[in-house]
Amino acid sequence: MGNKLSKTLKKNTPFPTINTQENPDFKYINGRRYHNVESVKYTLPNDDEEVDRLHQQHFLLRYIWQKNFASPVKHILNQNGTKVLDVGFMFLAIPKDSWADTINEMTRVLKPGGYLELVEINPMPFQMGPVSSQFFIPDDLRKRGLDPEIVYYLRTYFEKQENLENVIEEKNRLPYGPEAGKLGQAAVENTRLGFSHVKPFLQEALKISSEEFDNKLDIMVKELREYDTYHDTCCVYARKKEIIE
Ligand SMILES: C[S@@+](CC[C@H](N)C(=O)[O-])C[C@H]1O[C@@H](n2cnc3c(N)ncnc32)[C@H](O)[C@@H]1O
Repeated sequence: MGNKLSKTLKKNTPFPTINTQENPDFKYINGRRYHNVESVKYTLPNDDEEVDRLHQQHFLLRYIWQKNFASPVKHILNQNGTKVLDVGFMFLAIPKDSWADTINEMTRVLKPGGYLELVEINPMPFQMGPVSSQFFIPDDLRKRGLDPEIVYYLRTYFEKQENLENVIEEKNRLPYGPEAGKLGQAAVENTRLGFSHVKPFLQEALKISSEEFDNKLDIMVKELREYDTYHDTCCVYARKKEIIE
């Protein structure tokens, strides 16, 4: 397997072999790599499989929004030296009481005239089947200090940030049902993967065996199609004022 170049590299290049098993920044559960920072809420892994899922998620979101970004920044992006910081889709990472500080900090590091844009989702979907309702549990997120409803308050956080102006909110849906065609299928697959990636944590919260988890997950993905389940998602963006108050 592999092309000539990769064979040559494997043979001759002394790649540093980092034994991450011994790296205290990570912990391994069922062969998956997770962060090992006690104070961090985030439960998704940070290995290649998860990077692939995030990649797929990126294309899903791009399809839903029919664009890569909403802010009017094309002219800024075309200038040499423009910097973009991607920190979106953080509802599983930022604690409820840190959203205001996070937005303040993101605004602080932004250049005057630059844009802050966040896309978030309501992790609790609508029109759920009975097994899906057992899987999507907002109280588990609340217990971990996260805010499952952040999508509905994002705009207010932007409006309260005095150095941001022209706040715009766009709303959309992430659908799973058959009417959404291949998009729905891809969304179901992405969610199935997402749940299987947080399995160790969710299994504990649901207090079910590994086998029961897998069986329920199979039922849930069928329900997502059957019940035409969907999520609310929103995009909020604003410009940093040229003259800072
Ligand atoms: C759902 S992913 C979104 C990734 C990307 N922004 C996107 O939209 O595809 C959330 C990202 O936040 C990162 N993350 C989670 N907790 C974090 C923390 N405490 N500090 C910095 N990054 C964090 C994760 O590693 C992951 O890359």
